[in-house]
Amino acid sequence: MKRVLSGLQPSGQLHLGNYAGAIKQFVDLQHDHEMFVFVASYHALTTIKDPAELRANIRQVVIDYLAFGLDADLPHVNIYLQQDVPAVTELTWLLSCVCPKSQMDKATTYKDKVAKGISASVGLFTYPILQAADILGVAPDIVPVGEDQRQHVEITRDLAQRFNHAYASEDDPVFKVPDVMVRADAGVLPGLDGEKMSKSYGNIIDPFLPEKKLRKTIMKIVSDSTPMEEPKDPEADTTFKIFRAIAGAEDQRTTDLAAQYRAGNFGYGHAKQALFELLLDHFGDARERREKLMQDPGYVEQVLRSGAEQANEVLSKVLEKARTAVGL
Ligand code: TYM
Repeated sequence: MKRVLSGLQPSGQLHLGNYAGAIKQFVDLQHDHEMFVFVASYHALTTIKDPAELRANIRQVVIDYLAFGLDADLPHVNIYLQQDVPAVTELTWLLSCVCPKSQMDKATTYKDKVAKGISASVGLFTYPILQAADILGVAPDIVPVGEDQRQHVEITRDLAQRFNHAYASEDDPVFKVPDVMVRADAGVLPGLDGEKMSKSYGNIIDPFLPEKKLRKTIMKIVSDSTPMEEPKDPEADTTFKIFRAIAGAEDQRTTDLAAQYRAGNFGYGHAKQALFELLLDHFGDARERREKLMQDPGYVEQVLRSGAEQANEVLSKVLEKARTAVGL
């Protein structure tokens, strides 16, 4: 079984961008892959300064992973919190010492976040090295992420190669160099305003909203002013892009919707109604599961305990090898 690792920041309500770019891949991969899926709490410390908010968000991400369909009852599915696996921070230091500063200077996420007003801490600057430690410590074959995280996985690959080159022989590397996996039909999912869907842009769609609010939110998606009767280009429309990312590009419903756009006599309001119905259908089970999980904190704790145990076992071996390699 190939091994998969990925994680999300507990920085607020998860949204369709997280689902389409990342979580859908986790759910699809879990049947024939060993899964390590975690909550990137340390990463969220770069932006969240309220302890109660962080604590609540962390629990909510775990509940949402399970609600979206990650099945922690499968013996090879491990869900854990970053702070329960301390080897990650030690690995971060070992990797920091082989990371040229110029490589961090090039990371676009840092510049984007500072431009958005997030304070330019050292933690924010070296964020990709912590991410590299999350990944390399578990030695995965595949890292499924959304398009916006591709650069971080490239940095991770580069750091693994630098470390191996400096400290290990080619036939016995310390770190496995993982492959990135990005869904072609998700891309960077746009939000209500057509920009990247992101909590910090206030343009998200939360699939767990009550029905009425969900519909109201979907109706806010910005579209152009092409009249109802005229043919439209689905590829240029946000509602279509979101529909395709959830149903899948190959799905008959997506092909049918594209045909309706092109035929004309089909307005953006109709498309939004189709998206609303798709979401209710697609996330019906997730919405029910979430309600039940909210009432069962004991189960969530048990999932986290066993996930951390597995992750610690794997990470401690990789860390030991890395420590020995550098001379500690
Ligand atoms: P985060 O929390 O910003 O996002 C979590 C996942 O959701 C994807 N995503 C999107 N995909 C498509 N369209 C969008 N609009 C969209 N918004 C978010 C992200 O690409 C990501 O896969 N640094 C990471 C968390 C992290 C991590 C890791 C990921 C920490 N360590 C190790 C993988 C491996 C982050 O901030 O993701």
